[in-house]
Amino acid sequence: MKRILHRHYGAPLSVLEVENSPQPEQVPAGSVRVRVVLSPIHQGDLLGVAGSPAAGSTTPISEQGRGPGVEGVGVIDAIGADVDSDLGLAVGTRVAFFPTSGGWSETIVLPATATVVVPDAIPDQVAAQMLVNTITARMLMRAGHNSLPKDQMTDVVVLQTGAGSAVSKLLSKMLIDAGVTPIRLVRSAQSAQVLSDVLPGSPVISTDDPNWQSLVKQHAGDRKIHVAVDGVGGPLLAEVATLLEPQGTVINFGTLGGETTDIRWFVPRALVLKGLSIAYWFNESAEDRKADIAAALRLANSNPELFELGGEYSPSELTAALSHVIERKRGTAFFSFRT
Ligand SMILES: NC(=O)c1ccc[n+]([C@@H]2O[C@H](COP(=O)([O-])OP(=O)(O)OC[C@H]3O[C@@H](n4cnc5c(N)ncnc54)[C@H](OP(=O)(O)O)[C@@H]3O)[C@@H](O)[C@H]2O)c1
Repeated sequence: MKRILHRHYGAPLSVLEVENSPQPEQVPAGSVRVRVVLSPIHQGDLLGVAGSPAAGSTTPISEQGRGPGVEGVGVIDAIGADVDSDLGLAVGTRVAFFPTSGGWSETIVLPATATVVVPDAIPDQVAAQMLVNTITARMLMRAGHNSLPKDQMTDVVVLQTGAGSAVSKLLSKMLIDAGVTPIRLVRSAQSAQVLSDVLPGSPVISTDDPNWQSLVKQHAGDRKIHVAVDGVGGPLLAEVATLLEPQGTVINFGTLGGETTDIRWFVPRALVLKGLSIAYWFNESAEDRKADIAAALRLANSNPELFELGGEYSPSELTAALSHVIERKRGTAFFSFRT
């Protein structure tokens, strides 16, 4: 079987390679083997390959190599003993999977509890990317809620940066559905237009407008901004900090801007800077995690337009697949193992 892996941390285009490996034959108790159809290439996957601090500490890579890819969609082709029958899994069941490592592979073996049965109505490209982004957005919702002062729970305004990103769009939808007003920042008037068309219902402001900060204040009116959710970082984050109430909270989950942030702006206003990572999803309650999966299935079904479709690349198109993500072409890129 083909799998994509690396043996050194470094630039993804230099270190990632395709290898033919034996298919895993053993399926341990409580696990399933999945013939992968699609696995998305997330920005975070490439940060992990590069060994960037934005993806956490690196661990030494064994001789077998390190396989990136944390989620995807595929079809179960073998089931180990003692798999809970309540999961509804059988050979031939189409499932989304998360979390795993080595998802960029024709076949993977993973705990049955890391799979979710996908209804026929949800297309492969949506199912393959619905878990990571929705779960992250739901964790941001909870973190945002917990950051609000107890007496400021109504008529809430939240500032969002990089609002056109996959996670941010899902978060905006959840905020709007919860009666919160997200004030959404994007980097160009064109992005603002695209985003307003896909998801209307709250202000979208381009930060290339020299008056963007005044526009934020105008939209907030007399409502105070206690929380900002940021996926960009860098100089923008420092500017966002100046728009928050003293002792407000910035929740950062991404580094789309690729630059470091000057935190000197945070101290004089006693702001809280909180990092959020899906790596800590298992620290959330079982009830919340179950609700997160249900939300992913619901949104994938009701709002597929929030999951941007994109290019499918076979392993032999490795360079084109990586370039899609590195050059920030529109839509999600997937490794495809369709036969
Ligand atoms: N913490 C976690 O657990 C977690 C989970 C998932 C993702 N992430 C991280 O969160 C970030 C967003 O991920 P994603 O998958 O949602 O991103 P994405 O969908 O790949 O984001 C792409 C969009 O972001 C916008 N963008 C790119 N660079 C920007 C910049 N410098 N300023 C403002 N907007 C910019 C672009 O919009 P326009 O081209 O329209 O301007 C682009 O369409 C990434 O850094 C990712 O690694 C973290």
